[in-house]
Amino acid sequence: MATRILSGIRPTGNIHLGNYLGAIKNWVSMADSIDETLFCIVDQHALTTAEDASNLYENTRLIAAAYVACGINPDKSYIFAQSHVPGHTELAWYFNCVTPLGWLNRMTQFKDKAGKNKEHANLGLYSYPVLMAADILLYKATHVPVGEDQKQHVELARDIAGAFNNYAKHEIFTLPEPVIPTQSARIMSLRDGTKKMSKSDISDYSRIHLTDDDDTLALKIRKAKTDMEPIPQVKEGLENRPEAKNLMGIYSAVSGKSIEQACLQFEGQPFSAFKSELTDALINHLEPIRRKLTLLLDDKDELDRIITRGATRANILSQESLSDVKSHLNLYPKPKGL
Ligand code: TYM
Repeated sequence: MATRILSGIRPTGNIHLGNYLGAIKNWVSMADSIDETLFCIVDQHALTTAEDASNLYENTRLIAAAYVACGINPDKSYIFAQSHVPGHTELAWYFNCVTPLGWLNRMTQFKDKAGKNKEHANLGLYSYPVLMAADILLYKATHVPVGEDQKQHVELARDIAGAFNNYAKHEIFTLPEPVIPTQSARIMSLRDGTKKMSKSDISDYSRIHLTDDDDTLALKIRKAKTDMEPIPQVKEGLENRPEAKNLMGIYSAVSGKSIEQACLQFEGQPFSAFKSELTDALINHLEPIRRKLTLLLDDKDELDRIITRGATRANILSQESLSDVKSHLNLYPKPKGL
């Protein structure tokens, strides 16, 4: 069976180290072994949280440029904006009609985002996972590489695929596999190791942006929360030390050393010594990405070319899937010429 990846990021603010280590880095390493790879900038999802929707044009450009700067080849993979492919919202409607409310009530991201104010949360936020299922299934993706926090949504997409197949009495959709990295599946906040690094945290010091310059990056690592204990000799010594574990995990991901090797390297040392090595490793890893990102952001024609190429392919695949779906729904077929 041909393999296809679909994954995406919301253009809701500056892209951060969690997005890179939890998602994009994995996309890059999988891309060569998969037949076709599509990476979406999921701008319609960003509309579900009004505070995130103010700068969609700039943020969409930023995410597209970041995909390429992080190593996605825009002439092999397809990079596109969700709103350039109307099939996403159309398929989401058909999925709405087979998705029980009970399934959506279990979604932890909705509970987190809506908070105590559920009655005032918008319908888009509630049905977000159905649109996400459409993003994935519209392309009949076989693999969906995401960070740990999105696993529940990909599992729901599998359930929706099954429900739709049942309804249509036809195996239209294959079940997509979530692919979660073994390491860096959940990068934590630099200010609180029990909270996920996230675009919505009010403190800029909680996360590293891919656009941070060297000084900002060094300052954020200097200010990162740690504990009073020295670095342990073995990985197990990091248990119940969320901040220490997170920083060692980040060091391991950007230096290419295992956590075991990193523990041996820094054993018994205070965090100050480790933090300066971590800063150097981060700068080494992120500086070339930032340089490429900045160049691309200045090249509007190239960014437009990349997302036009992506949307062209995505629209072709979308049309194929939708005509397959509609042919099983008893809808009145469009008269010729319409
Ligand atoms: P989003 O925009 O919140 O995050 C994009 C990707 O980054 C991962 N990620 C993290 N990984 C590790 N540690 C973190 N702290 C961290 N923060 C974010 C996310 O797991 C994700 O892989 N609903 C999705 C976007 C989406 C999507 C899709 C993804 C919409 N349609 C279809 C895949 C396929 C989201 O909000 O991701």
